[in-house]
Amino acid sequence: MITSTEIAGIPLSSYICNASGPKCTTYEELAELGRSKSSAIVMKTCTILPREGNPEPRLARVGKNSLIQSMGLPNLGYEKYIEFSKKLKKYGKPVVASVAGFTLDEYATLAHAFQKSGADLIEINASCPNIKGKPQIGYDFGQMRNLLSLVCEHGGKPIGLKLPPYFDPVHWDIMSELILEYNISFISCINSIGNTLVIDPWKRSTVIKPKKGLGGLSGTTIKPIALANVQAFYERLIGSVSIFGVGGIMNGIDAFEFLLAGADAVQIGTAFEIEGTSCFGYMEAGLRTMLEYHDFSSIKEAKGKLNYL
Ligand code: SIN
Repeated sequence: MITSTEIAGIPLSSYICNASGPKCTTYEELAELGRSKSSAIVMKTCTILPREGNPEPRLARVGKNSLIQSMGLPNLGYEKYIEFSKKLKKYGKPVVASVAGFTLDEYATLAHAFQKSGADLIEINASCPNIKGKPQIGYDFGQMRNLLSLVCEHGGKPIGLKLPPYFDPVHWDIMSELILEYNISFISCINSIGNTLVIDPWKRSTVIKPKKGLGGLSGTTIKPIALANVQAFYERLIGSVSIFGVGGIMNGIDAFEFLLAGADAVQIGTAFEIEGTSCFGYMEAGLRTMLEYHDFSSIKEAKGKLNYL
């Protein structure tokens, strides 16, 4: 059974790794991912300057397996992650940098800086919903074009985009055209569903503090939206762009569903936040069981093999 895969030509020893978000901000957290069964070390989205993020409480559980959060990109500043990316090489797995600028120039500075780092893949976060006054650039296709023309022109490391969820086929069409025009190597879809509201009726209160309680929703609740986005991009990008599926993957069966929809690998956010590093092992085992059940001998063989009624 071959459960190794690749993203943009970079080999991954398994289908499952962490998503930028939970427990990947400090060197200690990243080293723990290095020692875990996560097939890559995806670092927290970094900005030019260190950030403390939004006021607390900024994360809350929603039901059993979902979260609402408005972290506000707490991170140590990009220079630290350049340093970490080199130190993390000792774990022998790909390191993924994730970057977000407050201006297009900042995005460009960050993307260029990581070209000279230990990172194997550079994920441009075009979809953080949690910064007041900073729109999700992934929803502004004109700005996306400007962004892509700046970040794609330097260096040889694969550039990818962390995308917000789209809900209309025309948006998948426009985004796919841009991705193909600028030779984006991979996408990670989807980020949390931005600006959702959870209310505690007993306290008559929001459950997180920033932005009047608005935050990104992740976990089981968003899996159908994530699957639809993976399927839509898989169909449109005709196998030429690798896809990280992200959104509500809680077990190996969920991971298998993303494989059927066309994802080359999956990133785990909410389950990792709730369960810790053990999630990578049990998801891998569950995925193997599903592949065996369907008589697939590899990830490659099963990719995109969704039956339509
Ligand atoms: C955050 O730090 O606010 C979450 C990151 C993201 O949604 O991209």
